[in-house]
Parts: sequence; structure tokens; C-alpha cells
Amino acid sequence: MRTVYLNGEFLPTAEAKVSVEDRGFLLGDGVYEVAPFYEGVPLYVDRHLARLERSLAALRIDFDVAGIEGMLRDLVAANDLEGEERSLVYLQITRGVAPRTHYFPEGSVTPTVYAFAKTWSRPPEDVWSRGFTAITVPDLRWMRVDIKTICLLPNGLAFQDAREAGVDDAILVRDGIAIEGTHQNFWGVFDGTVVTHPETNLILSGITRGVVLEIARDLDVPVEERAIKVEELPGADELFFTGTTGEVRPCVEVDGAKVGAGRTGPVTRALSDGFLERIARTKEAAAAVTS
Ligand code: PDD
Repeated sequence: MRTVYLNGEFLPTAEAKVSVEDRGFLLGDGVYEVAPFYEGVPLYVDRHLARLERSLAALRIDFDVAGIEGMLRDLVAANDLEGEERSLVYLQITRGVAPRTHYFPEGSVTPTVYAFAKTWSRPPEDVWSRGFTAITVPDLRWMRVDIKTICLLPNGLAFQDAREAGVDDAILVRDGIAIEGTHQNFWGVFDGTVVTHPETNLILSGITRGVVLEIARDLDVPVEERAIKVEELPGADELFFTGTTGEVRPCVEVDGAKVGAGRTGPVTRALSDGFLERIARTKEAAAAVTS
């Protein structure tokens, strides 16, 4: 059985219990992170924790993230995931347990901290090369999606629409702009320039997004951070998503229409290879430290 972390304890999932008065349960009053591990080595965990601190600060949840990295590592070890090519830790921090009010609880409340670890996998090379499909749907989310809150209902509804349409993901559209995926950032390649939405309150500042921007610059690929209009999509050479559990994920069809050549393009592939190299280098650096 899976070992999870709850409020300072490692325990079997079935024994982990949260109060019905938890504000995460009642109000969605909490934040989360998904931190990836490769053969037990965390990738850019410092960036994930920095974003967690920003999310906590935005909701004014008073919690010190010192010690969290050690807990994530211990959780991966406790679940025997160190040998797994890919695993992740989901970490959620809510404001804590208090009688239900729309305003913050009066007096000090201890945040509820919950985490679980699991494996995940990258699709096989032939599936990845064939690419993934998407539909466009309205972005029904609130105006502060830069905060990584646990309130994911609009994301879930959009992903469900995608599943029911028989495609792999949905592209969220606001005011004619293709903003991002349901759980991944969204990118286009137009005449050799890689384009993605700027970091505003309308997207999550993806850790993978930041790394892929660095890779594009390393490769001397021109980059533009600007809004991508839906009407531009049919003219894109390539489209792709990025995210912790998708890495770099080609999108070859939108709303039933082929993108470019209708298969994974060279820029997407180069950026994906660059990302896989970063993983390999991170693992090598960790092995050098421990040997
Ligand atoms: N999703 N945009 C949204 C709306 C997201 O939920 C995510 C992450 C991203 C990509 O961020 P990153 O590269 O830091 O993973 C973009 C996580 C993984 C999830 O909900 O499972």
C-alpha cells in the first residue's frame, strides 16, 4: 500500500484522515505543487518550492517550506520509487481546519500538509512522434491562475470535454487567445519563432515552460512571449504543450484540423531532446555528488 505524508507523519493512505472542516475540503482554500523525480533525483525542485512559496504568499497562508524538500525525498524513498525512471510527488497545503466562514479563520490555524508519490511514464517514442490532439474550449477559470490553487474544476471540465471528444487535451481560450492547456502550458512555432503566452495572471508560470525557454535560447531559436490568437493556429508550423507530467508534448491536431505536416515537428523535437538532456545532466550531477 502507498505511504503518504500528512501533517508530519508518514502513514498508509487508508490511515491518512483529514477533518471535514478542512478549508481545502469546504472552500478549495489551498495550493499545490507537482514535483518530478527521475530515478529518485528531483528535477528543478528549488523552482517548484519557490513557486509554492509564491502561491502560499498570494493566499496569505503562513507556512515555512524549509524541510519540504527533505520530506519529498523521504516520501519517494518510502514508496520505493528511487529506481523508477519517472515518479512525482503531489503536495497540497490548505489553510487548515476551522469552522466554515468565507473570511479567514480568526486566530492562528495550522495548515494541513498532504503529499503522495507515484510513478508516471512518458509515452513510447512512436506514440510521441505521432503527436497528440486537442480541442479548443472556453477558459472558464478565475483571473489569478498564476496562483497554483487546488481549485481545478474548470480545468477538469475542460479535460472531460476533451476526453468526450476523443482527443488528448483541451486548449483554453479567453478573448480569442489560446491561453494554455488544462494542465500544461501551450506553445506555437510560427516561421521558425517559438511563441508562448507571457507570464501574466492568465497562465500558470510553468517550471517546464521556464526551462524550455532557456533551452530555446541555448539553441539560438528565436523566442517571442506573446499571446497566440486562435485564428493563428491553422497557420502554425508546430504546436506543443509543456508541463511536469508531459515534458514537451507535440500537438498535431486542433479541432480536427492538422497542424503543419500533421506530425511532430523539428523544433518541438529539438526542444524535447534538450529537455531530456537536462534530465540526464541533473541525474549525472546527483550521481557525482553521492559517489
Ligand atoms: N500542472 N498550466 C497549468 C494550468 C498547470 O496545471 C500546469 C501544471 C502547467 C505546467 O506547469 P509545470 O511545468 O510547472 O508542471 C501549466 C500540474 C503538473 C498538474 O496539475 O498536474
